[in-house]
Amino acid sequence: MRVLVVGGGGREHALCWKIAASPLCDKLFCAPGNAGIAREAECVPIAAEDLDAQVGFAKDNAIDFVVVGPEAPLVAGLVDRLADAGIKAFGPSAAAAMLEGSKGFVKDLCAKYGMPTADFGRFVDARSAKSFVREAGAPIVIKADGLAAGKGVVVAATLSEAEAAIDAMMVEGRFGAAGATLVVEEFLDGEEASFFALVDGETALPLASAQDHKRVGEGETGPNTGGMGAYSPAPVMNPGMEARVMAEIIEPTVKAMKTEGQPYKGVLYAGLMITEDGPQLIEFNVRFGDPECQVLMPRLKSDLLPALVASADGVLANMDLRWRDETAMTVVLAARGYPGAYQKGSEIRGLAAAGALEGVTVFHAGTRVGPRPGRTTRSWPTAAGCSASPRPRPASPRPAPAPTRRSS
Ligand code: AMP
Ligand code: GLY
Repeated sequence: MRVLVVGGGGREHALCWKIAASPLCDKLFCAPGNAGIAREAECVPIAAEDLDAQVGFAKDNAIDFVVVGPEAPLVAGLVDRLADAGIKAFGPSAAAAMLEGSKGFVKDLCAKYGMPTADFGRFVDARSAKSFVREAGAPIVIKADGLAAGKGVVVAATLSEAEAAIDAMMVEGRFGAAGATLVVEEFLDGEEASFFALVDGETALPLASAQDHKRVGEGETGPNTGGMGAYSPAPVMNPGMEARVMAEIIEPTVKAMKTEGQPYKGVLYAGLMITEDGPQLIEFNVRFGDPECQVLMPRLKSDLLPALVASADGVLANMDLRWRDETAMTVVLAARGYPGAYQKGSEIRGLAAAGALEGVTVFHAGTRVGPRPGRTTRSWPTAAGCSASPRPRPASPRPAPAPTRRSS
């Protein structure tokens, strides 16, 4: 099978690492990939969001199966475009990707079909959002409806913070169209965890749980990031809690999406708050988490590729996946300054030594191999660490070297 993975972050490196190990994979491409992915796959310099070029490459190179890593191309309809071209792909259609593309859509779905989630209001003007906030009181959570690179949520401790967040999103347009509609919701108290399931339109196959750490500094300090590290499993997600999340959140959502005529296929990532009253849905994502994928893949004993194909083919009911009992943990090393305006082009040293340690796998995000002759192990991070949200590849400070090629 000729496989193309779309994306170039740590998540896609972990996916390529696992897919390259599958006996079903004859040839693996990754677009755009990165310096680490180049060890597993042939990297192709096409941006994940360049739908025309991704579809063109898949057609021209007789790709049998495409695995889409990030949410932006999913929400933009890459899987639909590939289907029109007769190419099978892992991930939801644009209509089903609304589960991540619109927070309001998810809240309405939960309200209609009874999935547990925080009480909420949905607003298209700042005045009514503010009067709702004044009535509900703080703490309260303000969310931009659309994709906002992981930054569209403000947990406001006071009413003035909540009002400032409403102004920033709606009046100042900080997130553009993504902030034209707001969800304002009740603050939930509890332990956060993430749970992942594969879905084929009808059947949901539980994967595993994970927990990420979002703040950049030691001891939970500094601004939020896409995730500075993660571990799997999440201790709060014991087998009983996993069964509840499947029965109360994942399975009813899969059924609801089918009933609504937008059957969901792909990985369903539930961001959860485990409260005293049980699991509550905070958000859905329609892709693997980053860096959560980097801890899920090493724990998966079974071959991933047939499970991804089964999701696309609608035959997950016949699948059974085996997991290692051991815990996996990842720590993100990010460029200085991340998540703000971070330093680009800095050299990463010691990767070979780190990768040689027992039980350690190094995954790359946004790196490239430096061009200096005789220094083949040099690489520079060009994007910050591992993050949930696709970031545009910043301009390289040096000319790009020829990609490293290796057949898998
Ligand atoms: P989201 O992008 O929806 O996952 O939200 C980002 C973060 O905001 C979550 O990981 C939570 O830490 C926090 N958050 C979101 N919604 C709530 C809520 N209703 N109550 C408490 N914290 C929340
Ligand atoms: N690590 C959070 C995410 O992938 O959304």
